[in-house]
Amino acid sequence: MRVAIVTGASRGIGAAFANHLGETRPDVDEIWCISRSCKDGSFSKKAGGFPNQGPRFRYLRLDQSDEDFGDKLQSYVKQQHATIVYLILNAAYANFGDINRQDFAHVNQMIQTNIRGTVAAVYSLRDLFEKNSHIILVSSISTVAPTPGLAVYTASKAFIRHWGISLREELKPYGVSVTICYPGKVETKALRDVVKQSGSVKLRLMPNQNLKYFVQRTLCAAERGQAEVAPGIYGLVMALFKVLPRRAIARMGSLV
Ligand SMILES: NC(=O)c1ccc[n+]([C@@H]2O[C@H](COP(=O)([O-])OP(=O)(O)OC[C@H]3O[C@@H](n4cnc5c(N)ncnc54)[C@H](OP(=O)(O)O)[C@@H]3O)[C@@H](O)[C@H]2O)c1
Repeated sequence: MRVAIVTGASRGIGAAFANHLGETRPDVDEIWCISRSCKDGSFSKKAGGFPNQGPRFRYLRLDQSDEDFGDKLQSYVKQQHATIVYLILNAAYANFGDINRQDFAHVNQMIQTNIRGTVAAVYSLRDLFEKNSHIILVSSISTVAPTPGLAVYTASKAFIRHWGISLREELKPYGVSVTICYPGKVETKALRDVVKQSGSVKLRLMPNQNLKYFVQRTLCAAERGQAEVAPGIYGLVMALFKVLPRRAIARMGSLV
């Protein structure tokens, strides 16, 4: 069985990736949507409330921040005799707060989910990819914008970028292409939570990125074997930020 795996696919950007793959890749037998809030192993027709419907969508309850996330994912793939065509590592956690106020439990959750879980998935699944398969790593334009109040989150996204660039070279000889994508501001639950926690007018006023366009452009870039993709206006913002000194960005980048 040929599968596409999307982490954090119960809503937001991950759900849109899963949906687009469902529409455009009839050659993929199943699309596995991973999150913490779904019935284990259920197909979407039984999993009420989840966005993607149809017999090809399978919802798996796994927590990317768990120590054994990679092992569990690997044994599930092996148990189902599946090979991977797409792995989209999208699940992440963002919590607003500076070092003086933020509970370390939130910081730990960001590190475990955004960094450890993402890396563990690739290490655990590395022998299970088909030739000409794709990994998409979801980073953020904040990778080039250290942001006080989102310091650990933005650093975790910079880690994904840095790691992803090397990973791409390491996996090239095995026919697995790695593409890193950089969303700007997409109207999702994660974004609404950060706006609420920070009370940031700046963030609220920033233009929203079209989710469908973002996903479409990212999947096209992956199919072309492109290393990085930052679609639309936020791609230009990212290009500008790349040439500015990081300390200046951090001073300007405060959300409140
Ligand atoms: N929205 C933006 O403006 C924006 C900007 C830049 C980058 N991004 C990046 O885009 C990606 C998706 O963000 P989003 O805005 O779509 O967020 P979202 O709406 O909050 O969705 C996050 C998804 O991840 C899942 N998830 C969270 N923690 C998990 C865990 N420990 N284990 C398994 N699943 C987990 C959630 O499901 P459960 O809670 O049910 O587990 C949900 O399906 C993230 O990598 C984020 O950093 C977003």
